Amino acid sequence: MPVPLFATSLDPYLPRIVERLAEVANGGRYILGPEVEAFEQELAHFLDVKHCVGVANGTDAITIALRALGVGPGDEVVCPSFTFYATVEATISAGATPVFCDVDPRTFCVNAETVKAAITPRTKAIVAVHLFGNVAPMGELRDLGLPVLEDAAQATGARLDGVRAGALGDAATSSFFPSKNLPCLGDGGAIATNDDDVAHAVRRLRFHGSDDKQTFVDVGYNSRLDELQAAVLRVLLPELDGWNAARRAGADLYTRDGLGEHVELPLAVDGAEQVHHLYVVRHERADELAAALAQSQIGARGYYRTPIHRQPATARYAPAGLELPGTDEAARTHLALPIGPELSEDDVREVVTAVAASAA
Ligand SMILES: Cc1ncc(COP(=O)(O)O)c(C=O)c1O
Repeated sequence: MPVPLFATSLDPYLPRIVERLAEVANGGRYILGPEVEAFEQELAHFLDVKHCVGVANGTDAITIALRALGVGPGDEVVCPSFTFYATVEATISAGATPVFCDVDPRTFCVNAETVKAAITPRTKAIVAVHLFGNVAPMGELRDLGLPVLEDAAQATGARLDGVRAGALGDAATSSFFPSKNLPCLGDGGAIATNDDDVAHAVRRLRFHGSDDKQTFVDVGYNSRLDELQAAVLRVLLPELDGWNAARRAGADLYTRDGLGEHVELPLAVDGAEQVHHLYVVRHERADELAAALAQSQIGARGYYRTPIHRQPATARYAPAGLELPGTDEAARTHLALPIGPELSEDDVREVVTAVAASAA
């Protein structure tokens, strides 16, 4: 029985989504109208933050949030190298110089120790990525005394000590790319913050640096969440906690069925309630294991085999001889296995059996 990497489907929600899309299309408001406004309020309520601002995607969200936090040319921003490329790309787009830090390969997240090693007098901010749906240890990161931006693209709905990812930093970014835990039917993103000034700056930057479409006080972006996507997100946001609970139940089944006897299981950061955007294990021969699983029609893949400090576009930001041992280990050994709200007990059994047969 094939087990796809993403055990998820929007089919049950499509009739309602299509209805809402038709209403928006007929309503004639397509940009920055009532759907975006309502979704921003609903997401702010969900995250328990004062402000949410919809933008075009999760990459723009990082660039805009960093600029709203005062980051610009000449500033350094500490970022992990083990993340999706957009984290670092967006930091460079904000005008900053990324300074790569290491991750703990057991959690795939940065921590105070790895970040501290990258801090210099020019450091203006830290980007903490909640990778694979884990939550970086925000308490110890905030204790470092610098603004912290949460890249929560992969962790919408996760919590740390009861507080949502997105409400833990000076600002936070989300992505609603279709594979994300909270998807839309295209690109979408948002920025969350409790800071009125940051929220104001973000709203201005997403609209060409203008508050009133007459006076342009900044060189900004054309980066709005559109009304159609906001309408989709309003249908799906109420489902998110249920979906995330189902993802956690799938992860618990992997543990119960003994997957940990064959591979290293993902470790939650202390106090984190993960949302398993991806269910990522570690194994010394990860790609060989993926190939063996493919033979059994089980989806498995490595996502970030080449860390960002070795990518052609961004290697020049890494000082010669930079050693990031946790990053190297995570990059070499990580392997995503099937997860999603619809992963069944049979699916899990099938995956564990196939891993057991191939991982020895
Ligand atoms: C960690 C991380 N940061 C940023 C992004 C960028 O989001 P988007 O694809 O919506 O631009 C992604 C999404 O792919 C991501 O996984």
